[in-house]
Amino acid sequence: MKVPNHIAIILDGNGRWAKAKGMPRGYGHVKGCANLESICDDIKDLGVKYLTVYAFSTENWKRSREEVEGLMKLFRSYLKKCIRSAEKNKMRVKVIGDITAFDSDIQEKIRYLEDFSKDYKELFFQIALNYGSRDEIVRGVRRLAQDAVDGRLKPEDIDEKVFESYLDTAGIPDPDLLIRTSGEQRLSNYLLWQLAYTEFYFTDVAWPDFHKPDLIKAIEKYNERDRRYGGVKEE
Ligand code: IPE
Ligand code: IPE
Ligand code: MG
Repeated sequence: MKVPNHIAIILDGNGRWAKAKGMPRGYGHVKGCANLESICDDIKDLGVKYLTVYAFSTENWKRSREEVEGLMKLFRSYLKKCIRSAEKNKMRVKVIGDITAFDSDIQEKIRYLEDFSKDYKELFFQIALNYGSRDEIVRGVRRLAQDAVDGRLKPEDIDEKVFESYLDTAGIPDPDLLIRTSGEQRLSNYLLWQLAYTEFYFTDVAWPDFHKPDLIKAIEKYNERDRRYGGVKEE
């Protein structure tokens, strides 16, 4: 089985999973968060080099105050636990998204984790927090425009490579496989530029129930795809 170099996952369905068990949505987030820790281990075992997960979108602030507060509490504890996971898996962790919207202690935890893990090279783990692809593109374009105004960049020198270097994912190869759990078949503003040629895999399994066998199944499906895009497909 050929494993994709980069897997992106939209971790969805925590709320519905909890509801089906007669539990509050926050319980689903706690279980979903625990599952994220074990998926990192599985990804590493399978030999995948890059993992990028969607954990909180720019739209998710619209949820109830109680749910958002619960998620912030969970991020605080997860960012701490992730230090050990980074050490164990020799994994570099990067947060993509606009982190300035978070309380300063969360921003500090993010910076600490990124700095602590910056030299690890076994696995490259990106967590999308307060991430929205349109927001990422607009933030990048703003910096790019400023560089042009300041004379560091000529408009005629802007190409896809230059543009990419202004995205939060600069230096990270595009995902080969995108997985979205829990039935929804949309991108919800995730990695719009980066997913241009990515294979999509949708499953009804809710995120807290998505384990290693499900991951293997997704990779097997990916292996069945014909990835000779652009050119001529022959028998
Ligand atoms: C994904 O689960 C986690 C976050 C978006 C934080 P959801 O909270 O979206 O769960 P559903 O989709 O409502 O079931
Ligand atoms: C996408 O899930 C964002 C994350 C998984 C963090 P949502 O549940 O927020 O997306 P929609 O609302 O179904 O589009
Ligand atoms: Mg959802």
